[in-house]
Amino acid sequence: MTPDPTAPLLSVDDLVVQYHRPGAPPTRAVAGVSLQVRAGEVVGLVGESGCGKSTLARAVCGLTALAEGRITYDGTPVRPLRVRRRELALTGIQMVFQDPYGSLNPRRRVGSQIADGIRTAAGRGESAAELTTPEDLLTRVGLPASAAERYPQEFSGGQRQRIAIARALGARPRLLVGDEPISALDASAQLQVATLMRSLAVESGAGLLFISHDLSVVRLIADRIAVMYLGRIVETGPTAEVWADPRHPYTRALLAAVPKPDGAGVLPAELPGDVPDPADPPSGCRFHPRCPQAFDGCDREEPQLIAGGVACRLYAA
Ligand SMILES: Nc1ncnc2c1ncn2[C@@H]1O[C@H](COP(=O)(O)OP(=O)(O)OP(=O)(O)O)[C@@H](O)[C@H]1O
Ligand SMILES: [Mg+2]
Repeated sequence: MTPDPTAPLLSVDDLVVQYHRPGAPPTRAVAGVSLQVRAGEVVGLVGESGCGKSTLARAVCGLTALAEGRITYDGTPVRPLRVRRRELALTGIQMVFQDPYGSLNPRRRVGSQIADGIRTAAGRGESAAELTTPEDLLTRVGLPASAAERYPQEFSGGQRQRIAIARALGARPRLLVGDEPISALDASAQLQVATLMRSLAVESGAGLLFISHDLSVVRLIADRIAVMYLGRIVETGPTAEVWADPRHPYTRALLAAVPKPDGAGVLPAELPGDVPDPADPPSGCRFHPRCPQAFDGCDREEPQLIAGGVACRLYAA
């Protein structure tokens, strides 16, 4: 199949991902999500803990089975592997995980781990001229070339996250997925690393799906924002527009919490109740039990994401 040049790099359509527990109905951690990322675009995915962000990220990277819907990357369907090696085309998707301690092997030198990423690109048939060296990648993420000879534990959390980014970049990703890549870092390193991921992705024409709790960082680096609540996208749009005019009551509540003195966006106190259990979501609009603007019917009708980018009955035609 010839890829359509106007098509998004990543297209997630009506995706459902479920977790199974014995004797219980499945948990639909992702309950019907559609999302696109274009080449050169940074999409920020935000939402409270447990809303399904990591599950969505793992599905996009082919690490989780899809119950319904489909994911297409550059014309190739993304599915979890049944064989040991990922489909070659899919190695153009690289993920940077939240935990810079867990994602690097403590027993191998940094340079040799970054070389793994470069070999991935070579395996995809990238010409030798386009390949780089671990030392060059380390320099690009702001570390000395000599770091290649050292072991991960000789570095701070922020430095390790830079190493993980260098390893991902070595594979010359066309889609970089960052699942809370900055949350383990101290406040001063967070914006630096996020900005670095943005500039490295955009410079190489890659798409970046950037997942974060931290709305103030997402605001600064994302072209587009998608707000997730309990397995669904409730609002999406250009970051500046969503910030200037948040429409979904959940987005409004989230944005009302920013900026905090520590730079982190957390749910404001005026939102009543806890996040419901995704194994037993509320009927109708999943947000209705906590919504200050819920009205008759919100407990029965599940709103769909309309063209204006909001899934809320306040905006239904
Ligand atoms: N392996 C699993 N087995 C069963 N349930 C799971 C599993 N992983 C996640 N879940 C459940 O699926 C839901 C979504 O989890 P997920 O990790 O995707 O959320 P998240 O938005 O990434 O949260 P956080 O912001 O805390 O990282 C949660 O209710 C979680 O408890
Ligand atoms: Mg997560």
